[in-house]
Amino acid sequence: SSDLSTLISARVRDVPDYPKPGVLFKDITPLLADPVAFAEVVTALAEGHAGEVDHVVGLEARGFILAAPVALALGAGFVPVRKAGKLPSRTLRETYDLEYGSATVEMHTDAISPGDRVLIVDDVLATGGTGRAAVELVRRAGGTVVGFSVLMELGFLKGREKLSDVELRALTSV
Ligand code: PRP
Ligand code: MG
Repeated sequence: SSDLSTLISARVRDVPDYPKPGVLFKDITPLLADPVAFAEVVTALAEGHAGEVDHVVGLEARGFILAAPVALALGAGFVPVRKAGKLPSRTLRETYDLEYGSATVEMHTDAISPGDRVLIVDDVLATGGTGRAAVELVRRAGGTVVGFSVLMELGFLKGREKLSDVELRALTSV
């Protein structure tokens, strides 16, 4: 709703030139610190997915904070997609370009089983590289991506175009 969008806009802080000159960083910590806003965001991210999700995949690091409560709200398990070298067991990996730099992410090979229905959650969709990599990891494991939900979409970076084959939900778009 526009109310939720307004609430999010009021609680996400713009930080210019972080982590490097020219980047306007979206800082979600004020939103997380507000229990009403945090709860409304978790509810909105989970909405409509009750009973249709086996696992919620969260993207390190900020996606973890939102995906874990969404998983609990849906009665689903939580699965982390982590940056390279952080997961202890056997992994699948994907490398991608980021708004600033490049990165490799991993997911445990046995975290998702063939046929599992998966909701992917992150805080911000920017260029879509991180999200695209997560979709590929889930599909390589045999999972079905039933949705990709983010708190905020940076529309001018056109990440949505990299995720045209998934059901994308952004609670607010700037
Ligand atoms: C940020 C953000 C998203 C990603 C979006 O994470 O939290 O995960 O970038 O960018 P993209 O759509 O261009 O891929 P970042 O990699 O900065 O790390 P963090 O979540 O660990 O802070
Ligand atoms: Mg992130």
